[in-house]
Amino acid sequence: MTLTLSVVGCGYLGATHAACMSSLGFTVIGVDTDPNKVAMLQRGELPFYEPGLDTLLADQMKTGRLSFTTDFSAVKDADIHFVCVGTPQSKDGLAADLTYVRSAVAEIAPYLKDGSLVVGKSTVPVGTAQSLRDQLAKTAPQADLAWNPEFLREGFAVEDTLTPNRLVVGVANDRAEEILKQVYEPIIALGTPWIRADLPTAELVKVAANSFLATKISFINAMAEVCEAAGGDVTVLAKAIGYDPRIGNKFLQAGIGFGGGCLPKDIRAFMARAEELGAKQALEFLREIDAINLRARHRVIDVVRSELSEDLTKYKIAVLGATFKPDSDDVRDSPALDIAAQLQAAGAAVVVHDPKGIEPARKRFPKLEYTEVVNDAVKGVDLILHLTEWKEYRAIDPSVISGLVKNKIIIDGRNMLDRDLWRNAGWKFHALGRSD
Ligand code: UDX
Repeated sequence: MTLTLSVVGCGYLGATHAACMSSLGFTVIGVDTDPNKVAMLQRGELPFYEPGLDTLLADQMKTGRLSFTTDFSAVKDADIHFVCVGTPQSKDGLAADLTYVRSAVAEIAPYLKDGSLVVGKSTVPVGTAQSLRDQLAKTAPQADLAWNPEFLREGFAVEDTLTPNRLVVGVANDRAEEILKQVYEPIIALGTPWIRADLPTAELVKVAANSFLATKISFINAMAEVCEAAGGDVTVLAKAIGYDPRIGNKFLQAGIGFGGGCLPKDIRAFMARAEELGAKQALEFLREIDAINLRARHRVIDVVRSELSEDLTKYKIAVLGATFKPDSDDVRDSPALDIAAQLQAAGAAVVVHDPKGIEPARKRFPKLEYTEVVNDAVKGVDLILHLTEWKEYRAIDPSVISGLVKNKIIIDGRNMLDRDLWRNAGWKFHALGRSD
């Protein structure tokens, strides 16, 4: 039997999942409440930047298997419904806002056919899946619900969806697992580990993984603070500890810390949920992880002040990078943009450059100055901040831009630039966690 899938919520996760599932040969109906997003997707255009997904989407639209609509009743033909809506941090606290997940399930409930399976992919507080399953038992008893967390990284979304390092399914019975095995059969055939869990464990796997990644980053940023105090070099330290396979060399890049739509809000929501469950103490360390992360942003501003002056009102600063990471146009909780805005609030004139994120950044901080040309950004500045590790910034020739700036001072907030290259060109070069 050829399965028809629906994907509810066509943001980052949903649009990627819909296009990837279509590429596996399924008929896929994407539903979203935002008519502009749907219109773009239906034209085969991606509403955000993600390498490789633009061409995949355009190709899949041509097959006729993939379509997008704002009409929830379109899901009536689908056998499996993937819920991919956002779970942002709530406005009044640390917890996740579940409005969209709950309303997505409520919206599709009237159209669920006999034996269909609703599969949650959104990152949710543990216990949500069971409560949604209970809700469905009342409103659509003919359908079942499973949870299948997604681990995709921005910049690698297609790769992480089609060749993930594991598939995790939270199910309440064998039938739900069998259905999900049918969907993922081509991916399982690649040898991808398959992990069957109960609903709460599947939900927890996602937040545990993101908490671990956040902890690794904050750990190395804590070491950076100690290195600065003790006269050490965190990049050498990270390299040295990374050779121990129990530690590993990934996610030990010290700098201005993590941002984006996932890690910051996921660790906060996890803490809030643990407290509700009476397990607050178990996750107290995440509060420190969050604090170390936010402190990294202040530390870079401290270096700026020590280089220029406590009073920044007379200074012009170029910020290279606005997105939370390279190969993305996502500026959600971006440390780079946060630092740019804080410097401006402190009175500095700030010019921001980014290869892909200027428009989203402008929406968030309309008063910052933006430019699409690096040479324009650095013209006449007293200091350059390198805050997102785009490849093009590593290709900048310091001797070429020397004649453009007022002062040859650069701070590498990502520990990615070639320090010797800059120093040999006569620049004062600082990096977080490197006292030299
Ligand atoms: C993350 C998880 O990696 C992914 O598995 C999950 O599904 C969603 O959340 P993503 O938000 O795309 O993915 O970003 P990630 O690559 O994890 O980077 C997060 C942030 O940490 C970025 O701001 C990045 O610059 C920063 N980072 C990462 C560091 O500061 N140092 C590192 O060593 C690694």
